Amino acid sequence: MSRDKGKIHSITIIGCGTIGVSWAAYFLAQGLDVTAWDPSASARESFTARVALDMVALEAIPGEPTIASSQEQSVGEADLIVENAPEISELKRTLLCDLQNAAPVHAVIASSTSSLMHSDIAQDVGDPGRVVIAHPFNPPHLVPLIELYGPDPDVVQRLAAFYQEVGKQPVVMRREMIGHIANRLSSALWREALYLLQEGVASVEDIDRAVTAGPGLRWAIQGPFLTYHLGGGQGGIRHYLEHLGPSQQYRWASLGEPLMDDELQQQVVEGVESATQGHELEKLFAQRDAMLVALQKATRVKAKEEEPI
Ligand SMILES: NC(=O)c1ccc[n+]([C@@H]2O[C@H](COP(=O)([O-])OP(=O)(O)OC[C@H]3O[C@@H](n4cnc5c(N)ncnc54)[C@H](O)[C@@H]3O)[C@@H](O)[C@H]2O)c1
Repeated sequence: MSRDKGKIHSITIIGCGTIGVSWAAYFLAQGLDVTAWDPSASARESFTARVALDMVALEAIPGEPTIASSQEQSVGEADLIVENAPEISELKRTLLCDLQNAAPVHAVIASSTSSLMHSDIAQDVGDPGRVVIAHPFNPPHLVPLIELYGPDPDVVQRLAAFYQEVGKQPVVMRREMIGHIANRLSSALWREALYLLQEGVASVEDIDRAVTAGPGLRWAIQGPFLTYHLGGGQGGIRHYLEHLGPSQQYRWASLGEPLMDDELQQQVVEGVESATQGHELEKLFAQRDAMLVALQKATRVKAKEEEPI
């Protein structure tokens, strides 16, 4: 991406796993050129077919990625490089340096890292301003959120404008934080879900249902702050805080801190296997993708019908 022109046509996907495949499907569906590289030959060979599978849910005219012959070649013409390599800081540190050294000067590198911070993984690159944390939410071809953080506000703003232009909903972080925003919120919820399981309060199936049949429905429409604003009835958030603020404090004091030991892991695996009995993973993926598309159609209708909040 040129800092002056801000136009992105050519995207390089580095790391062709779950996230690399999904991103490639999304960008191809947006009519952009996609080149890909992965050090694993089997990941490269199966890439095009896996991307085509993700494109089904997008109902887009299938386009094909170009598989590069080397990492260096893959970034030679890139405007934007989307890094989706394993979540290992030393690996990303070296990779980001290699990518920046081989890429055109104008190219920006967007790292999909789920938890790592810019100051950790981009500390050794020549121009850290051209590396941006750009964390998608899985699966990126169907979930619009992208969380951005970088030390050069100009580069971040231009990248945010690009993502918005291609239909994503960027959130720009004012400062970096391990796990960014959405994963911290998800982790807080999952920590408590694990604690409830460990304490024998309910089964995996019922804890999941307590989210999907309850607060999960509201969260697709309003985040935690607006949810509690309405929880205060006619008095809104002020009344909520006066009335139920102390109850939150009471609950917070009892939240668990489970240790992810072998026993808990075993309990989780057995609970999930029992909850998904008879359902193949492929079927669960397809069900999730179809519902994600339907949900977004519903919330888009709502956004058109009403004034944005
Ligand atoms: N899976 C998720 O839910 C999710 C969501 C958002 C962000 N992320 C982030 O995306 C990144 C990729 O995660 P994933 O789930 O796609 O992992 P994955 O294991 O599915 O894929 C990783 C890919 O990277 C390749 N790889 C290995 N070494 C490499 C190297 N040196 N250079 C380039 N590629 C290399 C592997 O061969 C593999 O194909 C991680 O940083 C992760 O934190 C994951």
